Amino acid sequence: MTLSMKATCNSHGQDSSYFLGWQEYEKNPYDEVRNPNGIIQMGLAENQLSFDLLESWLAENPDIARFKRNGESIFRELALFQDYHGLPAFKNAMVQFMSEIRGNKVNFDPNNLVLTAGATSANETLMFCLADPGEAFLIPTPYYPGFDRDLKWRTGVEIVPIQCTSSNGFRITAPALEEAYRLAQKRNLKVKGVLVTNPSNPLGITLTRHELNLLVDFIDEKCIHLISDEIYSGTAFNSPSFVSIMEIIGNRNYQKTDVWNRVHIVYSLSKDLGLPGFRVGSIYSNDPLVVSAATKMSSFGLVSSQTQYLLSAMLSDKKFAKSYVVENQRRLKNRHEMMVNGLKSIGISCLESNAALFCWVDMRHLLSSNTFEGEIELWKKIVYEVGLNVSPGSSCHCVEPGWFRFCFANMSEDTLDLAIQRMKAFVNAINSSNGNAFSRNSSKSSRRKSFTKWVFRLSFHDRERER
Ligand SMILES: Cc1ncc(COP(=O)(O)O)c(C=O)c1O
Repeated sequence: MTLSMKATCNSHGQDSSYFLGWQEYEKNPYDEVRNPNGIIQMGLAENQLSFDLLESWLAENPDIARFKRNGESIFRELALFQDYHGLPAFKNAMVQFMSEIRGNKVNFDPNNLVLTAGATSANETLMFCLADPGEAFLIPTPYYPGFDRDLKWRTGVEIVPIQCTSSNGFRITAPALEEAYRLAQKRNLKVKGVLVTNPSNPLGITLTRHELNLLVDFIDEKCIHLISDEIYSGTAFNSPSFVSIMEIIGNRNYQKTDVWNRVHIVYSLSKDLGLPGFRVGSIYSNDPLVVSAATKMSSFGLVSSQTQYLLSAMLSDKKFAKSYVVENQRRLKNRHEMMVNGLKSIGISCLESNAALFCWVDMRHLLSSNTFEGEIELWKKIVYEVGLNVSPGSSCHCVEPGWFRFCFANMSEDTLDLAIQRMKAFVNAINSSNGNAFSRNSSKSSRRKSFTKWVFRLSFHDRERER
C-alpha cells in the first residue's frame, strides 16, 4: 500500500546541505577527550552560554521544579490541564518578558498571544491562517533554511525570495521588494505577505527603522500581511538596539487601520533563554480572527503544562528575567568578538553584526571559482578537512557564493578557540601552497567525493527552482 504524497514528497527540505552537514557531524562529533579530531558543530544556532543562570534560579526555587505552589503539590492539576488557551499566568509572564526585551516600548495583551510548540509551529500555524496552498510569502535572502520545511511542506505555501546582496550589507530595499512581488506575479502566485526575521538568521543583524518602515509601507500599499519572526529579539548585544515591528506600527498610529491587524509576531524561548528542547513558542497578532484560528490549531502543538508552570514562575521573577537578559547579551557580545577577531587575524571578515548566535562570514576570497560549485567545494573542505560543520550560504538561499554562517554560542570557549585554530591552519596552508596541501583526514576522500556530488546536486536543484 502506498503512503500519502505528503509522506513521500521531497519538499521537506532535509536534503539541504544545511541538514546534511548535521548528519556528517553526527557520524564524527568532536569531543575534547573521546574524539579530539572530530567535527566541531558550528551549524547549530543554540545558546548554551547562560545555562548556569537558569540552573541557579532553579536551585533557589526548588518548589517550582517539584510542581509545588505555596508548599502544596499541584501535580494532579498540571497533569490534567490541557486547555489550548494556555495557563493565564504563563501568558502574562510571556508578554511581560517580550515587553522587557523591547525596552517596555511595546505593550502586549495576553489575549492576543497564542502558545505553540516552538517558533517552528508558530510559523507554520500562521501560514495555515494567512495563506492557501499555492499562495506565496516573500522572504528576504539569505534566510533560515528551516523555513523551506516550516512554511511550505505541509501548508503548500510557496516562498518567493526578496534578493538582498552584499553591495548594501544585505539590507532590504524598496526595489528588491517590488522585484520579488513582480517575480511572484510572473509565476502566477498570489502574494499574501512578507516574512522577515528580526534580528536576522543568518545575518545576525537587527533591521533598521528605515527597513521596518519600508516593509510597513509595502504591505500597506499591497494590502498583504507582515510576519516578523523575532525569535532572536533578546540577543541584540550591540547598538543599534533591536526595534520590534510592533513599536513601528504603534508609533505610526496604525491602531485604527487594517494594517494593524495584518502585522503578526512570532516568538519563542529557544534562543533568548536557550531552551529549544522545552518547545515554547508563540504567535502575537492584533487580529482577533487570526488569534482565534491559531488558538484552535494550537491543539496540534501545545506547550506542556509543567513547562508553562515552571517558566511562568521564572519569567514572573522580573528581577531575574531582567538581569538574565543583560548578562546573556554581555556573554554573547564577548563570544561574537572572539569569533570576529579570530577570523580577522587570518584575513577573514564577517558582516558587521550586533545580534543572534552566529556570524555571517565572507570567504569569497577562498573560493576556487566564484560559483556555487566553488562554495560547495570549499564547504566540503571545511567539513571534512578542517573539521567544522558550518552552513554554506547556498543553504540559506544566498544569491552570492562564498558566504557561510558560523555559530558561536553552542560550545565552550576552548572549543571555539580550537575551531579558530583549525581555520588558521587551513588558511595558512592555502596561503603557502595554493590550497592543495591541507588535509587532516585524507583517507575519507572517496566517501567525501560521492557525498559532495550529492549535496551539490541537491543544492543546485533548489536554486534552479528559485530562478
Ligand atoms: C528564524 C528562526 N525561526 C524559527 C526557528 C525555530 O525555532 P524553535 O526551536 O522555537 O522552533 C529558528 C531556529 O533556529 C530560527 O532561527
